[in-house]
Amino acid sequence: MKADISAEIGGLILKNPVMPASGTWGYGEEYAEFYAPGELGAVVVKGTTLEPRQGNKPPRIAETPAGILNSVGLQNVGVEKFISEKLPFLKKNKCTVIVNIAGDSVDDYADVARRLMDEEGVSAVEVNISCPNVKKGGIAFGVNAASASVLIKSVKKEYGRPLIAKLSPNVTDIVEIAGACIDSGADALTLINTVRGMSIDINNRRPLLPNCAGGLSGPAIKPIALRMVYEVKKATGADIIGVGGIECFEDALEFIMAGASAVQVGTANFYNPMVMPEIIAGFGEYLEKNKIGSVKDLVGVAIR
Ligand code: FUM
Repeated sequence: MKADISAEIGGLILKNPVMPASGTWGYGEEYAEFYAPGELGAVVVKGTTLEPRQGNKPPRIAETPAGILNSVGLQNVGVEKFISEKLPFLKKNKCTVIVNIAGDSVDDYADVARRLMDEEGVSAVEVNISCPNVKKGGIAFGVNAASASVLIKSVKKEYGRPLIAKLSPNVTDIVEIAGACIDSGADALTLINTVRGMSIDINNRRPLLPNCAGGLSGPAIKPIALRMVYEVKKATGADIIGVGGIECFEDALEFIMAGASAVQVGTANFYNPMVMPEIIAGFGEYLEKNKIGSVKDLVGVAIR
């Protein structure tokens, strides 16, 4: 019997549990020379706002020994251009599309969600309450259970398909924020966004990134992400997409065993464009070798 590598997350059925982290895979066209985007479980697109944004001043990226710091500032084409210019390619390639949404205010998020509700080619929204690189919105909503709750309730009123909340690790108690999002109507959670960090330019004697701090991603944050997935799954039982430093199938499997139902791959896409197909193949091989029927049978098996 062929191994079942499908996944289910917040009511969304995916052909496999692997998708890119928002902002690390463009809108799909950028990687189309390597493989068909429809091979992925889903495609998560860049944080999308009501109006187009230029993002932060360069430099926006700083290398670190085990990952990168970014301070992109939610550069994106805006929701209307996304729908008219980017979504058709994803629809043509039969992708399950998840749109990461962001804004300065509760109304901004609600407006973007309302607009996407009209588009059948969009399967879910991932509500970004965790971007550390903008002065308004983003992480400001995700560091406090009350503000996270107000925002998720408002988006839920506008958006009737699956709603996923993407949470920040830059909090004292991730379980509290996760619980508030689920109680307010989130169907699933993405854990985690980047960890705030900084880098100093020793020649210029100043912070390397113009915003001083940025978001750290890559292998350095994997243990933090795994711990948060584990804690939230154990405490809430919520459906979780695990993300943070996944570079290979074994990393992805750790997240599944910690309680994630699916995984996102971010930084690794930049140096290994084939990393996601490799991870998908790894799931099939592992299930067959170990005579396990389904990836779902592995979700949370490590929880004690
Ligand atoms: O700066 C950025 O665009 C990052 C977004 C995010 O971390 O969600």
